[in-house]
Amino acid sequence: MASSESSRRDVSQSRSQQLAGEAIPLSGPLTGVKICVIGAGFVGCVAAAGFAKFGHTVVCVEKSPDRLAQLKDGRLPFYERDLEDLVRCNVECKRLSFSSQLEDAIEGQEAVFITVGTPSKQDGRADLTALEEIVVTLSERLQPHQILVLKSTVPVGTARWLKEILRQNRHGDNTVPIISSPEFLREGTAVYDFFHPHRIVIGGDSPKAIQVISYIYRMGMTNPVPIIITNNQTAEMIKYASNAFLAAKIGLVNELAKLCDSVGVNVMEVARAMGLDSRIGHEFLNPGPGWGGSCLPKDLKEFLGLADSRGVSLSILQAVKQANQEQLDYVVSKVKRLVGTVKNKHIGAFGLTFKAETSDLRDSPAIAVVERLIDEGAKVKAFDPAAKDEEVRLLSKAQLVRSPYDAVRDADCIVILTEWSEFQLLDWKKVAKLVRHLNIIDARNILTPEVVRGYGYNYLSMGQV
Ligand code: UGA
Repeated sequence: MASSESSRRDVSQSRSQQLAGEAIPLSGPLTGVKICVIGAGFVGCVAAAGFAKFGHTVVCVEKSPDRLAQLKDGRLPFYERDLEDLVRCNVECKRLSFSSQLEDAIEGQEAVFITVGTPSKQDGRADLTALEEIVVTLSERLQPHQILVLKSTVPVGTARWLKEILRQNRHGDNTVPIISSPEFLREGTAVYDFFHPHRIVIGGDSPKAIQVISYIYRMGMTNPVPIIITNNQTAEMIKYASNAFLAAKIGLVNELAKLCDSVGVNVMEVARAMGLDSRIGHEFLNPGPGWGGSCLPKDLKEFLGLADSRGVSLSILQAVKQANQEQLDYVVSKVKRLVGTVKNKHIGAFGLTFKAETSDLRDSPAIAVVERLIDEGAKVKAFDPAAKDEEVRLLSKAQLVRSPYDAVRDADCIVILTEWSEFQLLDWKKVAKLVRHLNIIDARNILTPEVVRGYGYNYLSMGQV
């Protein structure tokens, strides 16, 4: 035990020497780190497989027997582009394994990343039950040389609170460092994002732990990546502030689209020109049915709850949240502009997930629009390339069909709600022969207006003339 501890110390000392700068990729012969990732959800799987690809040895802990069985079998329990191959090849080369045994899995690891979910509670604040359970379970087992890393999105102050839990459960010992290292992966492009991050944020108060975590990331980076080293609270804040900003940016372009609609200006041209100004940037300027998913809505609620609890008024972000609800009504109002009342009208809906390239239905604006239409008496047939039938059935009264052509048969109006490229590539002439009325609402601006209008469709989009 003593000798393995001292050899670990040696490894980390030689690593500290390798860590010369913050943004320069490492070079020379590198040694992988032994890592445990707790939680095989979307973030956990990407991080575990990504770290393994960097050359680290990773065990990923998952408590759901179904998920575990699928992962061990080389299958993913959800769809994420390129992830299944990444997982499979790292399992095959024995750098990545999966386990259900939390306490055994942390044995001998240098870093323990926690990636479990922090869903919203009834009051909108983040539910930290799963996280707390894990920290309590591990508190007596963790060794001082092991580093606990919070990758889950956690409210400002969480690391401090967990340090106190650890201290209490370890009879006053506070030698286990906690690092806050939020992730910035987007579903659908998470594998790409993992290997091409805009920045890496590492918050903590142990210089040695910060060095080890920095090394873990930098070992696989072929290009310089800015690494922000800060304290835990700031790292936690950076995550929420970033998501709040993104929600506001999308909210703003959605409002611009409405105004463009009313004055007959093309918002896509406006957004393109705006985005060329590097102070604005071109990403996240695509109008749509509103922002959704498992992160932006939940994180904005937590952020607003935090502000409220501190007596701080975040009126801009309150308005961003409100405007996002109104965006759903705006899409429905567009359908009505083409079909009049939606009662007893047949609607073909394309896309139910919260965006393309994911099977995730959580807080999906597409589902919200579909449900609003159904509540007003419409009959909706929906096609989605990735959503799972059983999950859709829990959330929507729409009839899920197996092909886009089945969704549009006898439709009075087609509503495009996610931006899958396969909707762009559809044979829209063939579609025209199947529908009852040639009406399209393109809530993602993915079709070319002149082309579809050329086929005879009445076509409305978001802010395009
Ligand atoms: C978001 C952030 O982008 C990630 O950086 C962050 O790591 C993640 O949350 C998280 O906190 O875990 P994600 O929820 O996967 O990622 O999805 P986004 O790509 O941000 O899209 C969010 C919503 O905004 C979607 O409904 C999407 O359709 C919508 N959106 C996005 C637009 O309507 N227009 C845009 O231009 C961009």
